[in-house]
Amino acid sequence: MTSPTLSEVTEEFTDDIRLHEDITGFAAPDPHTVSEVFLTGATGFLGAFLLRQLLAHGLTVHCLVRAPDADAGLKRLEENLRRYELLDTLDLDAVRVVTGDVTRPRLGMPEETYTELAGRIGTIYHSAAKVNFLTIYKWLRRATVDATHEILRLACAAGAILHHTSTTAVFEPTADQPPRGSSTRPGRRRHCNWDTPRASGSPSNSC
Ligand SMILES: NC(=O)c1ccc[n+]([C@@H]2O[C@H](COP(=O)([O-])OP(=O)(O)OC[C@H]3O[C@@H](n4cnc5c(N)ncnc54)[C@H](OP(=O)(O)O)[C@@H]3O)[C@@H](O)[C@H]2O)c1
Repeated sequence: MTSPTLSEVTEEFTDDIRLHEDITGFAAPDPHTVSEVFLTGATGFLGAFLLRQLLAHGLTVHCLVRAPDADAGLKRLEENLRRYELLDTLDLDAVRVVTGDVTRPRLGMPEETYTELAGRIGTIYHSAAKVNFLTIYKWLRRATVDATHEILRLACAAGAILHHTSTTAVFEPTADQPPRGSSTRPGRRRHCNWDTPRASGSPSNSC
């Protein structure tokens, strides 16, 4: 088996950053009017602390959790908060667990749940990811690139502001040939959310 060449990898990336036609820009709401938000990755490290901050702002937080049902999902959330010694400091009354998976169409939610959620939320905090710096792109792709597309679809359906969390560099270009679509300014965060700015006429992006 041979490794892909740089141009093959660049071509694959170029295809992957092309947004589907159903992902469009829209007018984002005034953040001050938002009372319900959607959070992914709440069973992870970053998500636990994001959840704490969002609850501290008095928001209702709909958390996407991989679990067989909402009760099992809440248990997973609680276990994770306990792990970071946050559980005892938080009131989870404003937490709503939605079961699903970011790699699946409609994030794995039934259509009715998805539509209802889209009608409620004004902001999305997306921190779910497969975090592994040693593995290869094709094994990360579904949980990162494809999932980002699904999250963008929800942002469009909801007309919601999107905060997308990612990490460091994905792929360092050669000195004279940066991957197409990337900024020319060198820096470790250059490819952070490489694909999201294209849809960001309105949704905001944060790294
Ligand atoms: N940790 C840091 O210091 C740091 C710094 C900068 C940036 N970041 C970035 O922040 C993001 C989160 O990092 P982290 O450290 O919090 O990672 P983490 O602890 O591994 O958490 C990952 C989260 O993503 C969820 N997830 C993974 N695949 C999913 C799927 N298919 N559907 C739904 N949820 C899924 C996990 O759910 P399960 O519990 O079900 O697996 C978990 O809640 C990453 O993009 C990372 O690169 C992290």
